[in-house]
Amino acid sequence: MTAFTINGRTVDVAAEPDTPLLWIIRDQLKLTGTKFGCGIAVCGACTVHVDGEPTRSCQTHLQDVAGRQVTTIEGLAPDAGHPLQKAWIAEQAPQCGYCQSGQIMQAAGLLARNPHPSRDEIVAHMDGNLCRCGTYDRILRAIERAAQEG
Ligand code: FES
Ligand code: FES
Repeated sequence: MTAFTINGRTVDVAAEPDTPLLWIIRDQLKLTGTKFGCGIAVCGACTVHVDGEPTRSCQTHLQDVAGRQVTTIEGLAPDAGHPLQKAWIAEQAPQCGYCQSGQIMQAAGLLARNPHPSRDEIVAHMDGNLCRCGTYDRILRAIERAAQEG
């Protein structure tokens, strides 16, 4: 059994220690907002926070989060009211939507430590999060809006 906190709730999970955190989140805890894209840490669809840091859950093992705080898109803010979530709606950022939870979690990590990033800083921080629909311009605008209004 491995205990950790997810979205403020302590859970005790029975699984092999090297099970990907993404499998635990989606299959055991039924939090399906976090997506599987590549499975090899190159797309960002599976991004969650571990102790506040954006982390690829597909390449994080269950044993790596023992005793730590995990946050998924479902726990980012009460009632989906994070400034990024509001800005995402205002800018109509998603197309198919598949990558967008990971995009928001990645962006939230930036704004938590740098509330007013420059455009270049945003681009550099978001560089590893891929969107097959090519919504990059709207994502960047949404992050800039959240930084102004948050
Ligand atoms: S599914 Fe984890 S980075 Fe692509
Ligand atoms: S909105 Fe479709 S992959 Fe990003």
